[in-house]
Amino acid sequence: MTAQDAIPDHAMPHPSEPSPTATSDASDDVAALRAALEARTQEVEALRAEIEETNRGVVALYSELDIQAEKLRHATELKSRFLAYMSHEFRTPIVAIQSITRLLMDRVDGPLTPEQEKQVGFVRDTAAEFSEMVNDLLDLARLEAGRVEVSPAWFDMVALFDALRGMFKPVLTNPDVSLIFEEPHGVSKLFSDNRKVSQILRNYISNALKFTPSGEVRVSATCDTPDTITFSVRDTGIGIPPASHGEVFQDFVQIDSPLQRRYRGSGLGLALSKRLAELLGGYVGFESEVGVGSRFYVTLPTTYPSQATAPNASRPAASAAPATGSGDDHAG
Ligand SMILES: Nc1ncnc2c1ncn2[C@@H]1O[C@H](COP(=O)(O)OP(=O)(O)OP(=O)(O)O)[C@@H](O)[C@H]1O
Ligand SMILES: [Mg+2]
Repeated sequence: MTAQDAIPDHAMPHPSEPSPTATSDASDDVAALRAALEARTQEVEALRAEIEETNRGVVALYSELDIQAEKLRHATELKSRFLAYMSHEFRTPIVAIQSITRLLMDRVDGPLTPEQEKQVGFVRDTAAEFSEMVNDLLDLARLEAGRVEVSPAWFDMVALFDALRGMFKPVLTNPDVSLIFEEPHGVSKLFSDNRKVSQILRNYISNALKFTPSGEVRVSATCDTPDTITFSVRDTGIGIPPASHGEVFQDFVQIDSPLQRRYRGSGLGLALSKRLAELLGGYVGFESEVGVGSRFYVTLPTTYPSQATAPNASRPAASAAPATGSGDDHAG
C-alpha cells in the first residue's frame, strides 16, 4: 500500500476544484477589489460633485461678467454722448470769442494799446487751443459711438506730403528744428481716407515739433509689404521714458516734462490717431529713447478694405521691440 492509497478518496482535492485556502484567498481579493472600487467610485462621485459646483460658479461668473460688460457699454455710451453734446455746445461760444478777438485785432472798433493787443492775442491763442480740444473731444466721441464714416478715394502721396508741408510752414517758428518730408518709397497712390490719414500725421508731426528743442523731424512713407504702407515721423527730441511707454496712446495722457509744461494740450492727439488708424484698418505704434528721440508710426492698408472683410492690417511678427509701444498692446 502506498501513501497515496492511505488517503481516502473524498479527502483528495478534485483537480478542477480550487482548494479551500485558494477559495478564501480569491474571495478576499474580490472583497479587496470591491472595496477599492467602492472607494474609487466615491472619489469619482466627489470629484463630479466638485466639478458640478465649479461649473455652477463659472456660469454665475459668466452672467456676472455679462452684466458688468453691459453696464460698461452703457457707461461708455453715456460718456460718448456727454462728450459729444458738451463739445458741440462749446463750439458756439468759442466761435463767438474767436470772432470778437478777430474784430479787436483788426482794430474795427478803434486802436489798441500794446498791452491790450498782447492781452487780446492771449485770448485768441487760448480760444484756438480750446477750439482744438473741443474738436478732438467731438471726434473722439464720434469715433467711440461708431459715427465716423470713412470716405475712401485714391490720393497721391506727394500731394499729401505737400499739403502737410504747407500746413506746418506757418508754425515752424523754431530755427533749430527742420521739418523734412522724404520722397515716398514704393507707393505713389493710396486708396484711403485722405483727411483721416492727414489728421493722424498732423498729430504726430505737431507732437514731434513740440517735443524737439533742436535737430530734425523727418516724415517718411515706406511700403513694407505689397498691401501695407507705414508712415513714420521721427524726431531728435526729448524722448519718452520707458515707464510711460504703455500709456501714451491713452485718452488725456501727458507725460510730465519741462516741455510739457511749456506747451499745453489735452493729451487727446495720440488717442485720436490710434482710433483713426484702426478705423482705416491699420494700427499705430512708436519707439522712443530718452534724450535721443522718438519714431511714431502708423501702418495702413494701401487699399482701404470694406469693414465687413477687413481685419486690421496684419502686423509684422516681431513688432514688439523692448522700446516699442504698439498702440494695441499698450493703449486702452
Ligand atoms: N514725439 C514725442 N516726443 C516726446 N513725447 C511725446 C511725443 N509725442 C507724444 N509725446 C508724449 O505723449 C503725450 C500724449 O500726446 P498727445 O498728442 O496725445 O497729447 P498732447 O500733444 O499733449 O495734447 P494734444 O495733442 O491733445 O494737443 C504728450 O503729452 C507727450 O508727453
Ligand atoms: Mg499732441
